[in-house]
Amino acid sequence: MLTEAGLYIFSGLFYPSFMKLRIQGPSRLCGELTVSGAKNSALPAMAASLLTDSLVLSNVPEVQDILSMGELLMGMGKTGRHEGDHWVLEGSRLHSCEASYELVKKMRASILVLGPLLARYGEVKVAYPGGCNIGARPVDLHIEGLKKMGAKIDVEHGTIHATARRLQGTEIHFDKVTVTGTENLLMAATLAQGTTVINNAAREPEVTDLVRLLKKMGARIGGEGSDTLVVEGVESLGPAEHRIIPDRIEGGTFFVLGALCADELVVRNLEPLHLKSLLSKAGEAGVSFTQEADLIRVKRCLSLKPLDLETQPYPGFPTDMQAQFMVLLTQAEGRSLIRETIFPGRYHHVDELLRLGASLKKRENGEVMVSGPTPLSGAEVTATDLRASACLVIAGLLASGVSVVNDIHHLERGYERLVDKIRSVGGDVGYLL
Ligand code: UD1
Repeated sequence: MLTEAGLYIFSGLFYPSFMKLRIQGPSRLCGELTVSGAKNSALPAMAASLLTDSLVLSNVPEVQDILSMGELLMGMGKTGRHEGDHWVLEGSRLHSCEASYELVKKMRASILVLGPLLARYGEVKVAYPGGCNIGARPVDLHIEGLKKMGAKIDVEHGTIHATARRLQGTEIHFDKVTVTGTENLLMAATLAQGTTVINNAAREPEVTDLVRLLKKMGARIGGEGSDTLVVEGVESLGPAEHRIIPDRIEGGTFFVLGALCADELVVRNLEPLHLKSLLSKAGEAGVSFTQEADLIRVKRCLSLKPLDLETQPYPGFPTDMQAQFMVLLTQAEGRSLIRETIFPGRYHHVDELLRLGASLKKRENGEVMVSGPTPLSGAEVTATDLRASACLVIAGLLASGVSVVNDIHHLERGYERLVDKIRSVGGDVGYLL
């Protein structure tokens, strides 16, 4: 846990990088899984604590990225404590406005401190994030937007150094839809002088959750849920309490698991509306499911149809579900095509799924052709990023025999107690040293 002093103490929840997962398949799962709070919503919410003296968050998942964000904030001088899914972040006197390379390397979302620190404290240094396992991930749109608001920004020796007297409201148009870019500029605009209009803003539910939190703090924001956000800057923001929305990607991951391996799986505590595009594709593939207010029941389907899939910004099909859905399509009768448009290099899981016997072909035009149905068989594979890890766990549970997944620390960045959850519905998964 994180102590008041901001020290990280090994809690027994997270495991060293050399640990592996052993999965015995094929699994027949049955029961209920409860979805945790959304990591991608909790991260900007925690960064927003820099805009106020007191913030209480609930439904925050206990995953490594959240602990890293806590470490970053407390390293700067925020006082924080957390118990279970509750976080209290307090204080306004910072002794540092810097996010080091060590932390940014560990957690790219550290870039989210850029907007709030600049808006409230007038200065920030963040190590330049660079690429990562899912491809090049520039932050030029964050920087351009802040410059347009009057910030002076230099990138020197791998560090972004930004200063501003007071940010000025302006009109921003994103050439590309960027989630954390929208969140950064949104937070910056809350304390800017005048009105900021953000065009082509990301509409992801996590952005809308941040808008709701900022409004509770006293921010004046119009256009909630749309691609045009209008922010009227205020002098200061006050304390707030906020419950983080359910994690639609964790929910979607459980859904795919159920569609492949469950006699019946009830996925609880989610918002089916946030999964509309995924559920629509699942329906097209012939997955058998029903939905209620905050749950989905899904079961194994013996005959799946192939389909074409393209990732898109919300409300389109999420890139964070592409790898998991690829496993589903290995069991469809015929050829499916997957096109990743958000992070074109995000196909590292393809080589690992091939080891399990999947029939996949990367095409020159950037698509992956999936042929099925193909029985999968256990093998040793390596996780390369967070969502690729989840896809390998699903594939391991579906495959016959033993699979070993290396580098599972990726999984723990974003899935809360995934192994315990899967075991609770009958999955044969365990840690290997
Ligand atoms: C967020 C999510 C991540 C998800 C992604 C896309 C968090 C913490 N992470 O990442 O899980 O996969 O959205 O839904 O919320 N781009 C630029 N310049 C920029 C910023 C982005 O060219 O300044 C490009 C990226 O390379 C990418 C696209 O825009 O091609 C979308 O990226 P973005 O939405 O910014 O991803 P993240 O916010 O980093």
